[in-house]
Amino acid sequence: MDYRLCVIEGDGIGREVIPIAVELLGHCMPELEIESASAGWHTFESCGESVPLATLNALKRCRAGLFGAVQSPTRPVPGYRSAILTLRQTLGLSANLRPVRSLAGLSPRKDVNLLVVRENSEGLYIGRERATNDGYIAERLITRSASRRIAQAALTAMRQLGHQQLTIVHKANVLPLTDGLFRDSVREVFAAETDISVSELLVDVAALHMLSQPQQFQTIVTANLYGDILSDAAAHWCGGLGLAPSLNLGDGIALAEPVHGSAPDIVGQNKANPSAAILSAALLARHHWQRDDVAKRLEHAVRAAYQNHGADLSHSGTQTIVRTLRAYL
Ligand code: IPM
Ligand code: MG
Repeated sequence: MDYRLCVIEGDGIGREVIPIAVELLGHCMPELEIESASAGWHTFESCGESVPLATLNALKRCRAGLFGAVQSPTRPVPGYRSAILTLRQTLGLSANLRPVRSLAGLSPRKDVNLLVVRENSEGLYIGRERATNDGYIAERLITRSASRRIAQAALTAMRQLGHQQLTIVHKANVLPLTDGLFRDSVREVFAAETDISVSELLVDVAALHMLSQPQQFQTIVTANLYGDILSDAAAHWCGGLGLAPSLNLGDGIALAEPVHGSAPDIVGQNKANPSAAILSAALLARHHWQRDDVAKRLEHAVRAAYQNHGADLSHSGTQTIVRTLRAYL
């Protein structure tokens, strides 16, 4: 099998953490072929597009990508579209896996090991806003096909991880048509999986449980915005966003991406933590290349480093973190 990786550093600390993750991944997979591509705000400024066609083509060729982070303006800029949202939509990356696991020496709890499976293609993220007389309306799309697809992605990931408990998170008490359809579609997909227990929680209650009893969750499957919010909250338990990985998954194509952003406030100060980028590369290895051996090696290096050096390691600077991680690889 060919292992090809399209590397998109993006903006800000993406340019600091991604080269490190690529180096460590390449160390574990010497056969890996690398192709570089650009995306983000700087790309937009220089060529008028946040995701040039050449980048899309490179990702389609490689079928696997590692993406850093991009800066986005908070006000509308004519012609600008968020690079990561463009990539998710254009490449059909309809599932987003966001695992959160306690790390000895760092995490505020010892017993968290959960996976948020976030629907990645619809919900409010279709971005359809329009004006009314007195404000704006945002449309929120939930389809049977995308809901079944995300359920299937959750099931595949659960089988890989040996999870047996699924929680469907929704708000069907307020949105019975859309969220009711999401819930029912997921339940249909899991109906034949008799060894998996399926329960459901309203998203507000799920947020409370994420704070008070995160150990009760194994896999959570949820709609796009709920997953965005819950996965950031969950990341607290692994030690914060500097440690939170994610994987965007489509049909035979995957894009790994640390959950954190481009953090312009700490750029160039040797402060960025490359751990989330490295753990994201591990997800690519496990769920896309079926290389659990590589995933485990990278994860072991991160786990062992924090176990032996404690929480201080995350504040010790990028270079020290890399040196420490390399020693455990
Ligand atoms: C994430 C981010 C993105 C999202 C932003 C940057 C558009 O918060 O990956 O969670 O909302 O999906
Ligand atoms: Mg987010």
